[in-house]
Amino acid sequence: MHSDRLLLGPGPSNPYPEAVEALSRPVLGHLDPEFLALVAETAQRLRTVFGTRNRLTLPVSGTGSAGMEACLASLLEPGELAIIGVNGYFGERLCEVARRVGAEVQAVHAPWGRTLDPGMLLDAQRAAPQARLVAVVHAETSTGVRNEIDPLKALQDTDTLLVLDTVTSLGGIPVEVDAWGVDACYSATQKCLGAPSGIAPVTLSERAVQHIQQRQVPVCSFYQDLSLLDAYYQGDPPRYHHTASSTLISSVHAGLGRLLEEGLPAVWERHARAGKRLHEALPEYGFELFAEPGHRLPQLTTARLPDGVVDAAARKRLREDFGIEVGAGLGPLAGAGWRIGLMGHNAHNRPVTTLLAAMNCLC
Ligand SMILES: Cc1ncc(COP(=O)(O)O)c(C=O)c1O
Repeated sequence: MHSDRLLLGPGPSNPYPEAVEALSRPVLGHLDPEFLALVAETAQRLRTVFGTRNRLTLPVSGTGSAGMEACLASLLEPGELAIIGVNGYFGERLCEVARRVGAEVQAVHAPWGRTLDPGMLLDAQRAAPQARLVAVVHAETSTGVRNEIDPLKALQDTDTLLVLDTVTSLGGIPVEVDAWGVDACYSATQKCLGAPSGIAPVTLSERAVQHIQQRQVPVCSFYQDLSLLDAYYQGDPPRYHHTASSTLISSVHAGLGRLLEEGLPAVWERHARAGKRLHEALPEYGFELFAEPGHRLPQLTTARLPDGVVDAAARKRLREDFGIEVGAGLGPLAGAGWRIGLMGHNAHNRPVTTLLAAMNCLC
């Protein structure tokens, strides 16, 4: 047995009860028609959450990193240029993955804690119109900053694809894949979607699918080749690719069902309310909010610690005495700040009250 925790870090968060219950359903074979019907229904739910009509929308096996690698490995060929927005750890991770699949990387930077300038990304593309893609993290989990995506829809009038990381944003704040002209978007299930980790939702526009079909060299990863995954899940007949987990997909299906029953606007509003309460309360405890005002994520708050609170010891105390997990800081906040998540099932008043009550004993 392991302990029951209130997961208020950057993810995983506590899944919805429906998603936990679904984990005990009987296992189905990976080519069973009932399993493939479950995948199709899960994909339909994902289309609603992504705000897309994209045919190629799939629950990819693996965590958010699998979604990142599947999109970059499938879209980039060796030597092609990727323009990547970097204002935190996950922007840097995008650069690392793009380099590993053989691409040239041009990073467009903003300081950690500040938002990216979409104009700089568009200027970089104008100066290098041959770029295969521009990639951006919507919700930078290392800093708690939301980047503006809507202005990047101008890329639709170019030959450059727009790739978007929505690992921390999907289900927590509005994501509009079609309206923003996003060509490839990936996420993860353990944050605002309210399920365990292990599945990476992915969606591709038709022009992204065409790019994959016109590749000169095969995708460097067999496992992450989105055209093979498409042929498995949506092929007629479905073509075996790997042994996907019906257990995890059942759980994601149930978590999405709960989310959509509540309704996306209501879920976003719930995240907004919980985040606002935490943002307002933390300065009263001596914390200093880190992310740029106006671009703060409600589902992931970053804050510098008050004087006298020692990072690792205070997190240990929260974990051991109160069963609460919060996240350590990254980059400029390493050892000096926390990342506090209010995601999915935890985006409510009660977890905020519980955390603040525990902090009364620390601060
Ligand atoms: C913005 C972002 N992208 C990618 C990832 C990688 O996801 P995972 O840890 O599920 O592989 C994370 C994880 O926290 C993330 O926050």
